[in-house]
Amino acid sequence: MSGIDLTSEQYAMHREAGEILAQVREETVDRIEVGSSHLELAEFAESRIRELGGRPAFPMNISIDHEAAHGTPARDDDATFGEELVNIDIGVHVDGWLADSATTVDLRGSHEDLVAASEEALEAAIELIEPGIETGVLGGAIEDAIGDRGYRPIVNLSGHGLGHWEQHTGPNIPNRYIKDTQPLELGDVVAIEPFATDGSGRVEDGSDQQIYALEREAPVRNRSARAVLDQVTEEFRTLPFAVRWLKERRAEMALRRLEMQDVVHGYPVLQEREGAYVSQAEHTVIVTEDGCEVTTR
Ligand code: CO
Repeated sequence: MSGIDLTSEQYAMHREAGEILAQVREETVDRIEVGSSHLELAEFAESRIRELGGRPAFPMNISIDHEAAHGTPARDDDATFGEELVNIDIGVHVDGWLADSATTVDLRGSHEDLVAASEEALEAAIELIEPGIETGVLGGAIEDAIGDRGYRPIVNLSGHGLGHWEQHTGPNIPNRYIKDTQPLELGDVVAIEPFATDGSGRVEDGSDQQIYALEREAPVRNRSARAVLDQVTEEFRTLPFAVRWLKERRAEMALRRLEMQDVVHGYPVLQEREGAYVSQAEHTVIVTEDGCEVTTR
């Protein structure tokens, strides 16, 4: 992304995606309560995005307690919320121009500090953003703010640039201090996403996998794999999609086949160690001459 000049029309679509996202995030948070369904919540958010004129940029992520990212309900998921720490991450695009934002809801009522840690880290980073600021310095501000609350940042997750139809592109925004990193440039569009935890500060792959994205196009002979590939290239292109979004009945089998051929890749749930808790806060910003504009506020 760095160094690419967008037109005012393209920035307008980034802003529109951000506005839709902010509204949907608030409406979605209001529906998170003990006993409500994960699947209904995800479907609510994703259909509201469409009603407001956007498209989901990726399946709504729902992460519980020690989970950090990449979980989304399965097609017939019957999971409901308990007294848990719930983190939701939502993406919206307008014609491929993206916004990405996340927040954490404490249904247990005992994680106020942990939720505040990621929120304060996000605000500390936003406060510092201007052209020329090194991404590693933003990481330092995130690390300090989370440390001030007595928690650790998750250091193997990071913020990222948002490209056209590209959910993750450069520059990388670390969640801890790193020396001699790339400076942000005027006009960069980046997602800042601190994660705070009382665990180890690193996530690992879990066993669940409900999100995939296209890796490369290739000739595919199997009928059901080709049906999946056709829908993906037409509807999602290189953006992440959920298994439950696929029209093909035997999608799981087809995806396994496509993954073996490196045509798609899966995103396993990322999680801290069992028993730990994770909070996340995220906004998308556009770097301006004298600071930044938060598109998802
Ligand atoms: Co996000």
